[in-house]
Amino acid sequence: MEYAAGGELIPWPGAALRAIPHNRCTMTTRNRPQAPSQRARVPDFTSTDFRQALGMFATGVTIVTAHPAGGARVGLTANSFNSVSLAPPLVLWSLSRHAGAMAAFSSGSHYAINILAAGQRALAERFAGPAADRFEGVALRTGASGAPIIEGAAAVFECFNRSRYEEGDHTIFVGEVERCEWRAGASPLIFHGGRYYTELPL
Ligand SMILES: Cc1cc2nc3c(=O)[nH]c(=O)nc-3n(C[C@H](O)[C@H](O)[C@H](O)COP(=O)(O)O)c2cc1C
Repeated sequence: MEYAAGGELIPWPGAALRAIPHNRCTMTTRNRPQAPSQRARVPDFTSTDFRQALGMFATGVTIVTAHPAGGARVGLTANSFNSVSLAPPLVLWSLSRHAGAMAAFSSGSHYAINILAAGQRALAERFAGPAADRFEGVALRTGASGAPIIEGAAAVFECFNRSRYEEGDHTIFVGEVERCEWRAGASPLIFHGGRYYTELPL
């Protein structure tokens, strides 16, 4: 919803166009959470306000890959990754309903989530852009499920495609982790406010 740095920026057609003073998305008595049977109020902030607020949440950067049986391998940059559950081991990420790889990810049984290392910014940009073959020249190996695994990633989660939830303009994918690995001491690539960073310990 809030991508930049080469990623897709999807407009939010339902947003009311009213500026928020002091760059705040307000939560007032008028729009506090309602009982489940009621509907949410129309947002009183713009999609730009929303994206800027979301951009204050620094994330890692992943490339989610799959190679469905009988199909071509697919992959895209995604920062919507998060953990869900330790037992069973579950993670989530969300995919735009406009994504070219939606059919491959929806129908396939497995995918791999590659957590990028700080030195892999160019890969993040490539997998968010219009390259004819995003995988060309990329150092890869094939995971146990057949999904491409990116060499040098800080961590990898190989997932069974457990469940999906359509919400708004994205589909939330919940993956059950069958295998995971990590590179001890690797510095992760960080995304915040439309820019890439690496970590700076406090
Ligand atoms: C840092 C970053 C994070 C992104 N996160 C997501 C995401 O979580 N979900 C998503 O659908 N697109 C995300 N995108 C946008 C996709 O990478 C981009 O739209 C890509 O072209 C989609 O692949 P497709 O062209 O095969 O549909 C992100 C882009 C960037 C640069």
